[in-house]
Amino acid sequence: MKNAIIILGAVLLSSSLTAQLKLNPKNIDAVIKEMTIEEKANMLVGYTFGKSYWGLPTNPDPNAGAIVLGAAGNTAKNDRFGIPHTVFADGPAGVHISAERPNDPQKYYCSGFPIGTLLASTWDTELVNAIGSTFGSEVKEYGVDVILGPGMNLMRNPLCGRNFEYYSEDPFVSGLIAAAIINGIQSKGVGVSAKHFAANNQEGNRTHNNVIASQRVLRELYLKGFEIMVKKSQPWTIMSSYNYINGVYTQESEDLLTTILRDEWGFKNLVLTDWTNTRNTAAQVHAGNDLLTPGNAEQIKQIGDGLKNGSISMADVDRNLKRILEYIVKTPRFNGYKFSNNPDLKAHAEIIRKAAPQGMVLLKNEGNVLPLASSMKKVALFGHTSYHLYAGGSGSGDVNKPYVVDLVEGLKNAGIRIDDTLNTVYSKYRDYAHHEAESEMGAFSSSSYFPRPRVKEPQMGIFTYANAAERNEFAIVTVGRSSGEGNDRAFEDFNINADELDMLKQTYEAFHKKGKKVIVILNVGGVIETAPVQKYSDAILLAWQPGMEAGNSIADVLTGKTAPSGKLTMTWPEALADVPSTKNFPNGLTWRDEIFVKQDEINKMPNLGETRYDEGLDVGYRYFQTAGKKTAYPFGFGMNYTQFEYANASVKEKNGVYTASVTVKNIGKLSSREAVQLYITAPKGKLAKPVYELKAFGKTKELQPGESQKIEMTFTNYYLASYDESEQAFVTDKGVYVAHFAASADDIRQNVNFKAVAQTVKCHDVLKLQP
Ligand code: BGC
Repeated sequence: MKNAIIILGAVLLSSSLTAQLKLNPKNIDAVIKEMTIEEKANMLVGYTFGKSYWGLPTNPDPNAGAIVLGAAGNTAKNDRFGIPHTVFADGPAGVHISAERPNDPQKYYCSGFPIGTLLASTWDTELVNAIGSTFGSEVKEYGVDVILGPGMNLMRNPLCGRNFEYYSEDPFVSGLIAAAIINGIQSKGVGVSAKHFAANNQEGNRTHNNVIASQRVLRELYLKGFEIMVKKSQPWTIMSSYNYINGVYTQESEDLLTTILRDEWGFKNLVLTDWTNTRNTAAQVHAGNDLLTPGNAEQIKQIGDGLKNGSISMADVDRNLKRILEYIVKTPRFNGYKFSNNPDLKAHAEIIRKAAPQGMVLLKNEGNVLPLASSMKKVALFGHTSYHLYAGGSGSGDVNKPYVVDLVEGLKNAGIRIDDTLNTVYSKYRDYAHHEAESEMGAFSSSSYFPRPRVKEPQMGIFTYANAAERNEFAIVTVGRSSGEGNDRAFEDFNINADELDMLKQTYEAFHKKGKKVIVILNVGGVIETAPVQKYSDAILLAWQPGMEAGNSIADVLTGKTAPSGKLTMTWPEALADVPSTKNFPNGLTWRDEIFVKQDEINKMPNLGETRYDEGLDVGYRYFQTAGKKTAYPFGFGMNYTQFEYANASVKEKNGVYTASVTVKNIGKLSSREAVQLYITAPKGKLAKPVYELKAFGKTKELQPGESQKIEMTFTNYYLASYDESEQAFVTDKGVYVAHFAASADDIRQNVNFKAVAQTVKCHDVLKLQP
């Protein structure tokens, strides 16, 4: 009897001890040991609160109702171990959540930040880092734990529909800018998900597209930015992409997610899938795709069954689970942070307004028409986008912003009057065009997720232009483009169309007849044709999609309140056909086709089932500079309201780290900032290489006329290397290198020779080219 009581006591004690085991950062292994198979399987799969993706069964939840409405997903919870759900919301241009909640008068608007491309065009890692911490505080105050961004795929071709979310055609720019924003966001104690890893460079058939690329091309271009980013910022999570690389889904690739990402680069944190239907669950788990998102009940069952029948190993599951729990214990939600649901949007708007001009690019400024003379007070605004600026793109990268300042308002705030007659004409036209566009969308018009068809410019007679030129002191013509997730841009989206050409030409001719100037604003998320714009303008400002303060930021630049100091992070070709990858890029498949055409058929279509990266390293300036091919505007190009002189360039080495420095002096009449680029030419060796490649960059502070600043840029011997497939290694050749200190890829100002020693960094023979 006594023994029985002791045994019963021990059982009760141990079960009460079990019940008391609550997760904390120090007992993760013990919690894992304690979990049942079902509990483990549950934690490895994301949680969707009754939201059903692709009609699959979701995780059943007795308390259905999202924690943060409109967020993209969550991790599962486990009450027994005190593990709460944590929340993932989309980015990257702001926190993507619903602005409205049922029976709640409060609005949950989020700041609309400038698109990723504009941020990169600042070439300013400090500024991007500061934007990141502003963004991070908003993430935290809305109760979100991880923002699903930054997007950092390479801009392989101008037509990729999501290029606006991305940074550059160059992996150094992508990697360094991504690291800067991640360090900023994560400094607030929330996480990011750097996406989409990897080679997700087109939207056409993105979930089934097989990327065929050589190991060298992958290593030097499509993986390099991620490598730099991982080493400089250790993001809390990385999102594996939808596509295949050389025949293997990235989400199922141990080579990519474990061998390269963790073993070679030292990534320590969590990998989650892009929002995917059930795939080969066992392969995903084994590859090191720790968390399956958004997640469904079928996947939970497959993991549980797999563990029981041995097709999924306990070691893999425990390893993935450990990374999930290590992530969870870092989150604000786990740590009981009391979020306010009330970030300081006003203060953030001020930051956004001042930041955007630093990434706007002045492409033309004939006769210094900009900044506008203070006497210029009356403007004729052409182009429907002038009256309705695009602050960002569509899809998951869109944000429910409280407002977007359009150009009318922005100019008004700057004391410039708008021509009323044109304002009336355009507002009527917009109502009509908007209605047309919505009816073309049919049943899909209720969703703001899908990109809208391009709205044509109204056809106006010669007298409208002549009268406007009579009434006003100058003209602004805005050319706008918007694109988004799930859809690549078509050729006509790149080209200036007949209706736009007519508007540009008529405005230019009418205003020039009166000796008045025409300024063109490009409110675009990606590269477009510019020859006609160049021809029919006095000045061109590439404003990108600058976030919710759009009109104010643009007006600040036009009036000279803030100088535009952005430079291009991608080449602007004269024609799409000049870009080598255009041969192997889809054209014409829309999201609607993807819904209505059978997957098998899509997979057979050119550059949809399979995309061969036959252009190899001939991407962007690497091609244009090496081939001596003319561009509309080269990589790194951007004019300024002043001029800068470069002097005293030098390169010094210490322990394999090179410091390149140059003194930049403002020799013009207005204050501004200069983005300095460092390109390196390697000595002739075994491998053919681009003529030069960017390895570092820097940006001056605001320099007053006559003021100078020494800019220092660092790089390491390792980053001088090219990938030699015969050795499966990054090999730095010994010899004399040339450092080019440049204002753009086409405008080298100073050259310095320096010596490097040989170095070989062995890698694994993985991601082999599929024949
Ligand atoms: C997109 C991701 C996004 C996710 C969640 C996917 O379709 O590709 O970028 O984060 O959805 O909304």
